Amino acid sequence: MEVSIPFSKPRNSSTTPFPPPLLLFLSLLLTVISISEASYSPCASHSGPVKPTTPLLNFLERVQETALRTFGKPKFDPKLYVDLSLKRNLSDSELGFDKLVRSSNGSVSVKDLSKYIENYFEGAGDDLVYAKPEDFVPQPKGFLPKVKNQEVRNWALKVHSLWKNLSRKVSAEVRKRPELHTLIPLPDPVIIPGSRFREVYYWDSYWVIRGLLASKMYDTAKAIVTNLISLIEEYGHVLNGARTYYTNRSQPPLLSAMVHEIYKKTGDLEFAKECLPALIKEHKFWTSGIHKVTIQDAQARNHTLTRYYATWDKPRPESSTLDKEFASNISSVAERKHFYREVASTAESGWDFSTRWMRNPANFTTLATTSVLPVDLNAFILGIELDISFLSKVTGDYAVSKHFLKTSQARKKAIEFVFWNAQTGQWHDYWLSNSHCKRVQTWKTSNQNQKAFASNFIPLWIKSFYSDALLVDKVTKSLRKSGLVHPAGIATSLTNSGQQWDFPNGWAPIQHMIIEGLARSGSKEARSVAEDIAVRWIRTNYVTFKKTGTMHEKYDVEKCGYFGGGGEYVPQTGFGWSNGVVLALLEEFGWPEDLSIAC
Ligand SMILES: *[C@@H]1O[C@H](CO)[C@@H](O)[C@H](O)[C@H]1NC(C)=O
Ligand SMILES: *[C@@H]1O[C@H](CO)[C@@H](O)[C@H](O)[C@H]1NC(C)=O
Ligand SMILES: *[C@@H]1O[C@H](CO)[C@@H](O)[C@H](O)[C@H]1NC(C)=O
Ligand SMILES: *[C@@H]1O[C@H](CO)[C@@H](O)[C@H](O)[C@H]1NC(C)=O
Ligand SMILES: *[C@@H]1O[C@H](CO)[C@@H](O)[C@H](O)[C@H]1NC(C)=O
Ligand SMILES: *[C@@H]1O[C@H](CO)[C@@H](O)[C@H](O)[C@H]1NC(C)=O
Ligand SMILES: *[C@@H]1O[C@H](CO)[C@@H](O)[C@H](O)[C@H]1NC(C)=O
Repeated sequence: MEVSIPFSKPRNSSTTPFPPPLLLFLSLLLTVISISEASYSPCASHSGPVKPTTPLLNFLERVQETALRTFGKPKFDPKLYVDLSLKRNLSDSELGFDKLVRSSNGSVSVKDLSKYIENYFEGAGDDLVYAKPEDFVPQPKGFLPKVKNQEVRNWALKVHSLWKNLSRKVSAEVRKRPELHTLIPLPDPVIIPGSRFREVYYWDSYWVIRGLLASKMYDTAKAIVTNLISLIEEYGHVLNGARTYYTNRSQPPLLSAMVHEIYKKTGDLEFAKECLPALIKEHKFWTSGIHKVTIQDAQARNHTLTRYYATWDKPRPESSTLDKEFASNISSVAERKHFYREVASTAESGWDFSTRWMRNPANFTTLATTSVLPVDLNAFILGIELDISFLSKVTGDYAVSKHFLKTSQARKKAIEFVFWNAQTGQWHDYWLSNSHCKRVQTWKTSNQNQKAFASNFIPLWIKSFYSDALLVDKVTKSLRKSGLVHPAGIATSLTNSGQQWDFPNGWAPIQHMIIEGLARSGSKEARSVAEDIAVRWIRTNYVTFKKTGTMHEKYDVEKCGYFGGGGEYVPQTGFGWSNGVVLALLEEFGWPEDLSIAC
């Protein structure tokens, strides 16, 4: 099934970045691109000195490192240690820590370290306390009217009830002494994804909100948006998650989509109006500076697109021990910093980690996310432009509406020109050549990554693409032939790499965006493909829930009834976006009385 050929060769040798898909003639078009030393230097505007992380984070990373040496690798989760909060002030805590007796390798006795942690720290997550959502009722009026099957209905009500389990608010302690916590004090209650993800996350929140809207929990949905907007006001963008260690990266930008969906369900104009300035500010963050890249066509016309780029060149604090281990084979300091930036930028993409971002799928240190113009990210930005245009029109700001409509038209053209491939019927990620720092580049076919990734179909989720009948027909056929559609849903890629954003994992948000695009297109055939995938996905969520008692972060699409694996941490349950997608899909398609929910 796997048709990929690793594309990375030793550095400085000439190499073609992507194999043509069994179509021989395409190989003639391939231009030779050299991956040079230059691609390892950071881009000029970000080569300056990097400020040290906050003293609390530095300290918690030291504790994390010592804990690894002391407790050993099995079950070790580095994130736990940067989520601890201090019982006493930092200098006291450091003093106590430095007094511990260490062996030559830096480890402490298990007893001493356990005692120290107990004495000096509150438990991870203790600073986020349970908060019953005010708008939760066990049986909401008008809940999933199209679900007729009683067994499915009972389960959907259980999934609905999980909003209670996942609802939290920041404790008063954090507001009193923020310097003792890595948790960022948010004004309103939040819904967390679950398990090790103890804080609110950015793109997860979109599907949480879709589920909350199906659950008629409009106030909780709005509160999540208010929290995320408070992050824009403070940091200029929505953080990956609400922790001080996430300040220098974002996540797939879906805030405007959240606001748009809430507006559609509630008609709350006041709410839309209040959100608009933050949406416009966020749009600027993604379309200027280091995120912006221009691709020139043969007529020297400029097409402006966006990439992921975290302003961070250190190990990710929440995975510091892992990142350092991966970087341990990289000898030059500049290359190590470059690698750390790529790791953080991949986390910004939401797809952490995947062969999608690796020059050589077999070698993790070849992550090159900042050299990729991603299809899905640019579809999301087009979505922002259309959402802002729509929301400013309904709130009466016609000049802003017109401006963003124009902006969206330019981006749509850029997406068509740079990513679309009429032969494959997909949009492909575009790899920047030579120096990714050169922010104006000339387009080449051979720079499209023609491997099959679920992200190649995400533009279909955006209205201006799904309303084109001919295009939808072509893309639907391409999806069916892609090898990505499996018995339990759409696979993330075709490469079984052991990374969690690869085969055989399927993720709720990806299923949802592709299904919704197909379903809204107006094509009967596309809608029936959408419904077929939705049924597979709902079944695997249900059967796995029956077996394990929980909703999971990801599922194995090869067979119905199994959760997914791989990646840098053990599989997580809870789970915000999976719950949201099940509820949103059941709202859209319903479930007939006589359709079995078994695999
Ligand atoms: C460090 O040393 C201690 C005691 O000498 C030993 O038990 C432990 O396995 C070592 N840890 C590592 C990671 O080498
Ligand atoms: C930390 O707390 C101790 C008391 O436990 C106090 O003596 C010390 O001055 C404090 N240090 C700082 C930097 O606030
Ligand atoms: C949700 O919370 C309830 C009540 O605390 C608990 O009984 C149940 O096990 C929880 N469910 C899950 C899936 O965590
Ligand atoms: C495209 O951008 C380049 C670099 O900024 C500029 O020199 C060129 O004039 C632009 N082309 C057009 C057609 O605007
Ligand atoms: C994080 O971003 C801030 C604000 O742009 C910057 O000052 C700081 O140097 C960045 N930190 C790192 C570690 O790059
Ligand atoms: C470092 O290189 C060695 C030798 O090539 C290899 O065995 C090891 O797996 C590498 N470590 C990492 C973390 O990639
Ligand atoms: C992995 O990639 C890095 C960065 O390009 C390179 O230095 C290293 O030699 C590669 N390792 C292997 C085992 O190919």
